Amino acid sequence: MDRSFLFTLFLLFSVVASTISADDDDLLIEQVVSSDGDDDLLPHAEHHFSSFKARFGKSYGSAEEHDYRFGVFKANLRRAKIHQKLDPSAEHGVTKFSDLTPAEFRRNFLGLKRLRLPADAQKAPILPTNDLPTDFDWRDHGAVTGVKDQGACGSCWAFSTTGALEGAHFLETGELVSLSEQQLVDCDHECDPEEYGACDSGCNGGLMTSAFEYTLKAGGLEREKDYPYTGTDRGTCKFDQDKIVASVANFSVVSIDEEQIAANLVKNGPLAIGINAVFMQTYIGKVSCPYICGRQLDHGVLLVGYGSAGYAPIRFKEKPFWIIKNSWGENWGENGYYKICRGRNVCGVDSMVSTVAALHTTSD
Ligand SMILES: *[C@@H]1O[C@H](CO)[C@@H](O)[C@H](O)[C@H]1NC(C)=O
Repeated sequence: MDRSFLFTLFLLFSVVASTISADDDDLLIEQVVSSDGDDDLLPHAEHHFSSFKARFGKSYGSAEEHDYRFGVFKANLRRAKIHQKLDPSAEHGVTKFSDLTPAEFRRNFLGLKRLRLPADAQKAPILPTNDLPTDFDWRDHGAVTGVKDQGACGSCWAFSTTGALEGAHFLETGELVSLSEQQLVDCDHECDPEEYGACDSGCNGGLMTSAFEYTLKAGGLEREKDYPYTGTDRGTCKFDQDKIVASVANFSVVSIDEEQIAANLVKNGPLAIGINAVFMQTYIGKVSCPYICGRQLDHGVLLVGYGSAGYAPIRFKEKPFWIIKNSWGENWGENGYYKICRGRNVCGVDSMVSTVAALHTTSD
């Protein structure tokens, strides 16, 4: 057995004994993570479930449904406990998704359609990386709108797309305008030319580069308030060309090199990225850096910044991280945001990154 494996085992075990702290300890799994067996889990589960229902306004149609959801909730407490061991620098516990099975969660709250970028996508030019700031956050520069909520619809790709174009439009015009995801959900059926049947399809998923392509062809996107989000894809397309407020000049794919990702972020604004969201169902806060995380991408989000020193694995100095805007409302994660470590493409965070440039338009 090699040393690093033993060390990992040591980390896994030492973390079981550690406790986590937060203001909201009702909803945390403190008792859960600080005990070794499952024996301790069940007496507290009922209490956690009550707080969960109260906090997120959950009610169930029948006693059967209630009991079923309580069972799912308990399974998710166990999962959160496992996630806490595998990802000790973050905080895992009860979230608004704690009454959903992993399959329900994937089906309703993710929605990245394809696992790879289109082969013919234009590649972003290589940028200089020597003068990059050590810490950077587009929220400090006014390029990021408030956190939105995709609801129970696999439209993450639309939110990632609008987020990137909102930033690019801000950089080009100095105006921050919230853009319409519903236009993408209703009207964008763009297909990947490389892959048969891989088309943007509302709540059933899509891809950000295809959505940029649609936006380029359609002429642009309307404002959020002119074409508001409904969270369903059963409506017809109501796009009105006269209401276009932001347009795409071009878009390209960024190399998986982390310095290039940072350079593109700083130069071009927030970036549309794909990520594996498995740890996000139980995420409460701090920097996520799981020992093991698949790189299969299933969720589209927005990279808005990075920090140089956000978390310290046991006995190591502080490590750098990415700052990610999600689309699950402000009552998820750190006010709607997720932090994940930089450095080794954890959860595939570096593998599908695209950047968009906006046309200079003037609004009235
Ligand atoms: C994309 O558009 C921007 C803004 O018009 C322009 O400055 C840039 O050179 C274009 N990039 C590419 C790769 O065509």
